[in-house]
Amino acid sequence: MPVRNRFADLLPEITAWRHDFHQHPELMYDVHRTAGLVEERLTGFGCDEVVPGIGRTGVVGVIKGRSTASGRVIALRADMDALPIHEETGLDYASTTPGKMHACGHDGHTAMLLGAAKYLAETRNFDGTVVLLFQPAEEGGAGAKAMVDDGVMDRWGVQEVYGLHNTPGLPVGHISTRVGGFMASSDEFEIEVTGKGGHAATPHETIDTTLVASQIVVSLHSIVSRNIDPIHRVVLTVGTFETDSTASNVIAHRALLKGTVRTLDTENRKLAEERVRRVAEDTASAFGATAKVTWTAGYPVTVNTATEVAHAVEAARAVCDHVDPEAPPILPSEDFAYMLESRPGAYVFLGNGDTAICHHPAYQFDDSAIPYGCSWFVELCERRMPMDL
Ligand code: NI
Repeated sequence: MPVRNRFADLLPEITAWRHDFHQHPELMYDVHRTAGLVEERLTGFGCDEVVPGIGRTGVVGVIKGRSTASGRVIALRADMDALPIHEETGLDYASTTPGKMHACGHDGHTAMLLGAAKYLAETRNFDGTVVLLFQPAEEGGAGAKAMVDDGVMDRWGVQEVYGLHNTPGLPVGHISTRVGGFMASSDEFEIEVTGKGGHAATPHETIDTTLVASQIVVSLHSIVSRNIDPIHRVVLTVGTFETDSTASNVIAHRALLKGTVRTLDTENRKLAEERVRRVAEDTASAFGATAKVTWTAGYPVTVNTATEVAHAVEAARAVCDHVDPEAPPILPSEDFAYMLESRPGAYVFLGNGDTAICHHPAYQFDDSAIPYGCSWFVELCERRMPMDL
């Protein structure tokens, strides 16, 4: 089945929006120009409601179907923010702001959801309500959480939520997804170890903090190999090891370890945190030192629910060349996870062809993917809220 013909007609217009966003990248919550254009266009399409300022600079658009008797409400999400990367694509519509670049294709996501909004507002060939979520600050600012915390799901009675991300390496026209953990949680920890510093020649009068911290590092690596079910995927990395000794003949008094834990399910995430705390504190205690653990929770696991994945796959099969419903999970994280904690839903990867990877200065969004993304959004709404029921 092909993409919707209407999107072939709309492609030059949607592509022009995308190139304009690309030329004017904005970071984190500071997406005022982009959000302003999104608001202006949604209003121009005749959306029933357009509300800016949700989750600080997020924008919500609401489109009611020809009937709303079904009571169904489906949300579609796009992210609007760029990255602090200096663009090296040489494109004629490259970033006009040095040091800022749409290197993750969020310009494409925003343009595609606008394209779908234009179509849905024109045709309204569904029985229910579509809520469009344009979020800021996906890249480390938890903009999705800000919108959820602002009550976006309850205010519009959202029942299911769907999102997509372009994926270099996956051919254009392909969509992949999976049930359950699709992208990882990403948490960080700091362990401050305090012993008793002193002279290198009299170790018996000290508590050697470097030795204690070293034991902690080694023991932390037993968590993945000995506490986590080997079928599951968890990564623990200690990235930093500093002590306050700068001399070869001084035993350190204090050491600081910093690391990250990534998991694909909430149970392992909790288990890993408990074990990091216990291993650090008890190992330090065994040597007469102390360890203070600071845990900073990052994005949660992106967990797709089975029923909604089935709907996402069915819609994808209607408009795409190839659909993989059992794609392997990956360990980057994604703040759409917060929306999936709030409502059932599905996140899918949309093929972006053979380009540089996301977050690379030479990354390019492939405009030929636009009709597939737009068609998937629209197909999903019309199939989930059919007029004939
Ligand atoms: Ni991204």
